[in-house]
Parts: sequence; C-alpha cells; structure tokens
Amino acid sequence: MGVNQRLQARRHKNCLIDQERSNRSERVRLCIEERKEVLDHELSAFAAQVTWKFLKSTWEVEPGQKDDDKDLIDFFRHIMTATVSQEVVSKAVLPYTMDKFETRIDLMFNALVQTEQLLSFSDLGNGTLHVASVGGGPGNDLVGVYLYVKCFMASSEFHGVCFDFCDSWGDIVSQVSSSLISPSAFDVLEKVDNAARWSARYSPSNLLLSKLEFSVCDLKLGPHSSVNSNIVRDIDLFDIICFSYVLFETAAHEYTLLSYLLDQCKVGSLTIILDLHTITMNRVIDMIEANRFQQTLLGSTKEFRFKGLALRKLR
Ligand SMILES: C[S@@+](CC[C@H](N)C(=O)[O-])C[C@H]1O[C@@H](n2cnc3c(N)ncnc32)[C@H](O)[C@@H]1O
Repeated sequence: MGVNQRLQARRHKNCLIDQERSNRSERVRLCIEERKEVLDHELSAFAAQVTWKFLKSTWEVEPGQKDDDKDLIDFFRHIMTATVSQEVVSKAVLPYTMDKFETRIDLMFNALVQTEQLLSFSDLGNGTLHVASVGGGPGNDLVGVYLYVKCFMASSEFHGVCFDFCDSWGDIVSQVSSSLISPSAFDVLEKVDNAARWSARYSPSNLLLSKLEFSVCDLKLGPHSSVNSNIVRDIDLFDIICFSYVLFETAAHEYTLLSYLLDQCKVGSLTIILDLHTITMNRVIDMIEANRFQQTLLGSTKEFRFKGLALRKLR
C-alpha cells in the first residue's frame, strides 16, 4: 500500500472509531438526562471526550495536517516492525498525540473496568496511588488510569510516571500534567464526576493529582543500563504498571528489562498490557512464574474491543 492509500485507510478507520465513541458518549448524556444508570464502558467514552476536548483547548501548538500525517505513517511503519528510532518518534510526537490521546484514555479506562470485573484490585485504592506507564508516549494511558481512579477508587492522591525511550514526549507530559492540575480543569473533572455518579460502581473521592511526570527508560536496554536507573530504582513503588501498545512494538520479550520489571514489581501490584497481538500476551505469560501472578486475558468482546492481559502479583 502506498503512503496516500495508507493515509486514507487511517483516516477512514479513525472516523469509524470516533463515531463509535461519540455514540457511547451520547448514550451517557441521555442516561443522565433520563436519570438512568450509566454503563461503565460507555462512561469511558464520555470521560475521554470531555477530558481530551479540555486538554486540546489548553494546547499551545496545533500541528498542521499534511506532513504530520506522513510523519505519523512513518512512525507506525517502524513501530510495527519494532524498528522505531528516537528521531522518527520525535517527528511524530505531536501528530500521535492528536491521533491517539482520546482513544487511549477510553481504552485504558475500559481495560480497568473489565479487569475489575475479572480480577479485583479495589484494595489498591487507599492513600496515594503510584502508577507507571512504560512506553507511555504522551501520557494518554496515565490519564485513562487517572480518570478511572477518580470515578471508582477511594485513593486520596494520584502520582503517575510516564517512562519512554524518547524524551521528546517530556514536554507534552508536563503540559498535560499542568493542565489537569490547574484550576481550569475543575469544571471538566466535575463533569466526569457528575456522570460517574450515575454508575452503579461510583465511589466518591477527593482525588488529588499530585503530578504526571516523564522519565526515560529503554525496553531494549538491560536493567543495568544507566538509562533504566529510575525505573529499576522505583519499580517496587508502583501500584499499577501499564504497557500500552509498546511490547510488540519494541519486541520487548527479546530483551531483559521486561522480565526484570515483572520479577521486581511490588506484591499486590496490577500490570495491564494492551496490544494488537495475542502473541504478545502469550509471550508475557510464558515469561512469568505462573504461581506468582493471578492473570486474566482482557478484551475481545462487544463491550471491550481490544486485546489485553491483566496480571496481579501474588508473591
Ligand atoms: C504505539 S506508541 C504507544 C504510546 C502509548 N502507550 C499509547 O498507548 O498510545 C509506542 C511507544 O513506545 C515508545 N518506545 C519505542 N521504543 C521504545 C523502547 N525501546 N523503550 C521504551 N519505549 C519505547 C515510543 O516512543 C512510543 O511512545
């Protein structure tokens, strides 16, 4: 397929995904109007839409369309063969953010909705919740976790770290963080909270977002590399660790960092893996000591249209 055909196929696919999300979000609005119960996998769409609309409005740079699309196609072409370089990522940082922020908020929120049905983790909720997203790009997965926690968990504080090998994401993560912490976020977060009140699982909380921060980490380098010193130092602090669309994309199973992180993560912690490929989940399942984790496959249903794996560390 040539670049132009790829561009057209991408735009068409994105339109369908956006339409489906808008339909779910609209059903949430209707439920609120009619004072009916809101479904959690539809609440995710509402939360993603209103939050991304707010974040975009605080954006300083709007990328232009044409070259951005080409940079994005180039990024996806490399990412699908696990050959992406920091240079290619750097050029795609803004268009990727525009393309995938809302989608991933929705997806990660929904992954947690389904996880909680299959493998409870509500006990993680008290006090400060430390969350890491590895290969976390613009921090979109972290925002999905944050909104889920705000709606359904009793945590008092949320601290998120986005680890990625390309530090060009750093400015975006810090912009997202300051936008969500600023007083101007109050209205949008209240909108999400008001919608969540109509869910059967709503848990009122005064969740404080302390910070979303960026740190480097390279899944293709080992745990002893200086680039990985922060993640290695802090891995046993995190309550939730996300790998969203990064394991297949880096062939992480061929390197030592991933198995090290799974071995060293905190007892009780929850790891969420999202990926297009079932083979990725199977490689992780082969990698872990089965008796140390409770595990469940996620997605592949009408409500949860993605593939994923959730692991809860038992010992
Ligand atoms: C498809 S994006 C996923 C971003 C985000 N997690 C999401 O779901 O939208 C893949 C991410 O992996 C990062 N990445 C690529 N190679 C990496 C490596 N060797 N180590 C860590 N991150 C890497 C990229 O910079 C990019 O942010």
